[in-house]
This record gives sequence, C-alpha cells and structure tokens, in this order.
Amino acid sequence: MRNLLADLGGITGPGHILADPDVVAGYATDWTRRYAGHAACVVLPSSTSQVSDVVRACAAHGAPVISQGGNTGLVGGSIPSPSADEPPPVILSTRRLTGLGPVDRGSGQVTAGAGVTIARIAADAASAGLRYGVDLASRDSATVGGTIATNAGGIHTIRYGPTRFQVAGLTAVLADGSVVGTLSGRTAGSTGYDLAHLLTGSEGTLAVITEARLQLRPAEPPAAVLFCGTAGIAEAAELTGLLKTAVSGLLAAEYIDAEGLALVREMSGLPAPFPSQHPGYLLAEIARTPGPQDAADYLVEQTARLPLPADTAIAQDARGIAALWAYRERLTEAIARAGIPHKIDAAVPASELGAFCGELDGVVRAAAGSLRAGPESGSGDQPRVIVFGHVGVGNLHVNVLGPDPADMQVDAAVARLAAAHGGSVAAEHGVGRAKTDWLAWTRSPGELAAMRAIKRALDPNGLLNPGVLLPPETAPGS
Ligand code: FAD
Ligand code: MLT
Ligand code: ZN
Repeated sequence: MRNLLADLGGITGPGHILADPDVVAGYATDWTRRYAGHAACVVLPSSTSQVSDVVRACAAHGAPVISQGGNTGLVGGSIPSPSADEPPPVILSTRRLTGLGPVDRGSGQVTAGAGVTIARIAADAASAGLRYGVDLASRDSATVGGTIATNAGGIHTIRYGPTRFQVAGLTAVLADGSVVGTLSGRTAGSTGYDLAHLLTGSEGTLAVITEARLQLRPAEPPAAVLFCGTAGIAEAAELTGLLKTAVSGLLAAEYIDAEGLALVREMSGLPAPFPSQHPGYLLAEIARTPGPQDAADYLVEQTARLPLPADTAIAQDARGIAALWAYRERLTEAIARAGIPHKIDAAVPASELGAFCGELDGVVRAAAGSLRAGPESGSGDQPRVIVFGHVGVGNLHVNVLGPDPADMQVDAAVARLAAAHGGSVAAEHGVGRAKTDWLAWTRSPGELAAMRAIKRALDPNGLLNPGVLLPPETAPGS
C-alpha cells in the first residue's frame, strides 16, 4: 500500500493525498451517518489527465476507486464498503476539479469541472440571465459530477426534467485510464452509443466523470408560490394535476405531510402556516410568463378557475416566497437532526399515491414491530413516519425515525410497497449500496443482464465503485 500512496503522491503531489485515518474516516462516512466504510486514502487530482493517471495507478495496484463529489448522496454510493477489502479502496475526490468556463450565450451552455457545486452553476447561469434546471437543497455541496452520476432530480424536475436532460456532453475516465467523451455541446449526432447518457445515472460504476457540458435554460423567475393545506397526498396530487394544465409555468409541486411540517417547525421554530392543521400540504411555484403583465393580475387569471383549498397562502414577493419554501427546504436537515432516518426515495404513479400512503403506516409498523428501537424512536416507541417529496413527478421521500438504523427491514418493506403499486425503488437518489438487493423488483432479468454486460465490458476487473448499483453476482447454481 505504501507504494500505491507514493505513486499517487507522484501524480497529484503528496499534499493532495490524505491518509490520516481520522481525515479518511470523514470522507468514508456518508451524509446520513448511516453508511461508513474503509479506505486506504483520499486522492484529490486537479485535472482529467491526473484522474487518468490515478485510475491507472490504482488499477496497477488492484485498488478499487470510489468516486466522490460533495458526499451528499443518501444511499451509501459515495463511500467504500464496510468490509476490510484487500487492497483497500481509494476515494477519488473531485473537490479540486473546479474549473468553470464562461457561459456560451449562443448555445446557452457552460462547461464545468465535475467538482463544481450546483450553487455555483446556478449563480453563474443567473449572471448570464439564464438558469440551471437542476436545483436541490444540497446545492452548496452537491457537485456536477455527483448529480450526473446519480441522475439527480430535485425541486424543478417537473419543469426541466432530471439531470439527464441537462447534460449536453461530458468527459470521463474509464477503468483502464482512457479518456472518453466530448464537450463540444453539439446536440445533433447519430453515430452510435451515447456515452454521456450511459454514464448519467451510472453512480461511479462505469467511469469517473471529470467535466461536463451543461445546457442552461431561460431564466424563469417565480411569480408566486402557493402553499395549500390539503386532505393528504391524494388531494395534493389531484391539485397538482389541475395546476399542470391550468398554469403555463409550473416550476415546482412539492408535498409535505403533517408529521413533516410538525418536525420542521419543531427543529427550526418556523410559525404555523395556518391556524388549523391539515393532513398534508402542497407547495406550488408558478413562473412569471414573459410580457408586460402585472404579476398579481397574472396569478389571479391563472388560478381563478382552480378549486384551491380554503387554507391557501399565496406569496408573490421574494421574502414571502422564501418563507413558504423554508418549510420544504429545511426538512431534510430537520430530520437528520432528529436522528438517523431510514430514507426510502420511491416513485409511485400519480393515481397510486393515495393508496400507497394509505398502506404505508401499517407496512412500516409491521416491519418495525420485530425490531429493536434505535435511539431516535418516536413517542411510545412507535416509529415516526414522515412523507414528503416531489409530488409533481410522483417522487415521495419516506423517512422513518425509530427503528435501528443498522436494520434494512423497514426500508425493504416500503420499497416493496412502492414496487407493488407500479412504482420504482429509487426515483432520484440512485441505488448506491443501500438498494442493490431491490433492483430486481423493478428491473427485468433481461435488463439486469444487459447492465451487468455493460459493467463487465467497461470495467472487467470491477475496480470502479464495486458493490454499488449492481447486486453482487451469484455463482451459477448457488
Ligand atoms: P456524492 O454523494 O459524492 O456521490 C453520489 C454518487 O455519485 C456516488 O455513487 C459517487 O460514487 C458518484 N460520483 C460522484 N462524483 C462522481 C464523478 N465525478 N464521476 C463518477 N461518479 C461520481 N438528490 C436529488 O436527486 N434531489 C434532491 O432534491 C436532493 N435533495 C437533497 C437535499 C439534501 C439536504 C441532501 C443532503 C441531499 C439531497 N439529495 C437530493 C441527494 C444528493 O444531494 C444527490 O444524490 C447528489 O446528486 C449527490 O451529489 P454529490 O456531489 O454530493 O455526490
Ligand atoms: C429532497 O427532496 O429534499 C431530497 O431528495 C432529500 C431527502 O430525501 O431527504
Ligand atoms: Zn428529493
């Protein structure tokens, strides 16, 4: 291992190899504190060519390479495995890949290093009068490379689609150190397999992404945010459906259940949005349409025909809009402060959301019944179930506080429920290490075989993020 560290130091300079066990442990533990692993060191290359040399050196030593961006992932994909693998893996951090080119006003595109944060892309786009289509509460740490690798969604997916829709090209290093991809940003092309799209959502298992060409969008400042008290997810989904057809620029449609609202208020001291409580809340953000129209008139015209609930707060100025968003934006942090949650990021068809949520409590209680409670149990040892998410695209985040964080039974039961309702066991966070056993519930044997074939072709020795995304192969007959 000493030779590997020396070889890596020769590539990046010894100051960019971190081997102090306490420092490495910080990189080897994920944001949720639920997943942690072992690594030999952290290497911080500063260019595609250094990444290529690092990957070659690791391959020569047989050391697995774990790609890591902002380490805000929620499924254990950005950290090494907890087993004491030999040789131990190397965490390749993209924190020094922070080059950011000028916005090309002709194409509305920008070229960014994999380690550039989403907040920086957003600020850069805004300074050119544009916007980046992906936004998420982890924006200050989540990176271009990490969001591409997970095909991240976020609060504006309903308007602009997930990260895949924003990628106009990329550069990546394959397991043998070769560099592939293009940053030309040209959108026409019909010459075979599209590597950029193959690598989007590949969670570091096929290549290390080093740079990306991103498509920006016209700026669409919000005209208003509506915050509605609803009878629950079914009404929130129905209202979202009506909004989608009634207003021309629905930028976001987000759901928070009563438990989520209570927790975020408890943790951050936010005031109650209404005098009475509701089973769930819908936050909808509507864009201003271009033109001279007054924003207030526009909103009245757009929403006049909608059966909005009696408890609907409407904000039209920046301060009011931020105050309503705070209930949603601070939720993940609030849950993390309450304990280490079981997080299940599921997608469910809109028509099934009501039934899914109706069965959820029973499923969680049944799965948690036999488990030892964790230190963050809800009152009376009952699990605390919080449901929120991007209802506009049928993506719900189920968070369960209480059962031992080391146990996966509750997670599996909720994921099975999503699959039983025609949903997906991962909507935007990826599969990581947490969900590999559930892939077969929503992907066919043929699809899994094709995915394995791609992995074997691009990474025959299984050096890139082993144990992430694909379940371990079982020997025939076993
Ligand atoms: P990491 O966590 O470092 O890595 C994530 C995965 O990508 C790992 O498998 C890793 O190996 C791989 N990877 C990272 N960089 C590269 C690279 N350069 N090349 C190849 N593989 C790479 N996610 C959403 O989708 N929508 C949300 O709304 C959302 N909100 C969040 C809010 C909070 C408060 C937090 C903490 C997280 C949230 N997330 C959300 C999850 C997380 O931010 C995303 O998954 C994000 O895409 C991870 O980016 P990252 O740079 O932190 O990647
Ligand atoms: C969000 O939408 O806030 C996230 O995906 C984070 C989470 O699931 O906690
Ligand atoms: Zn989300």
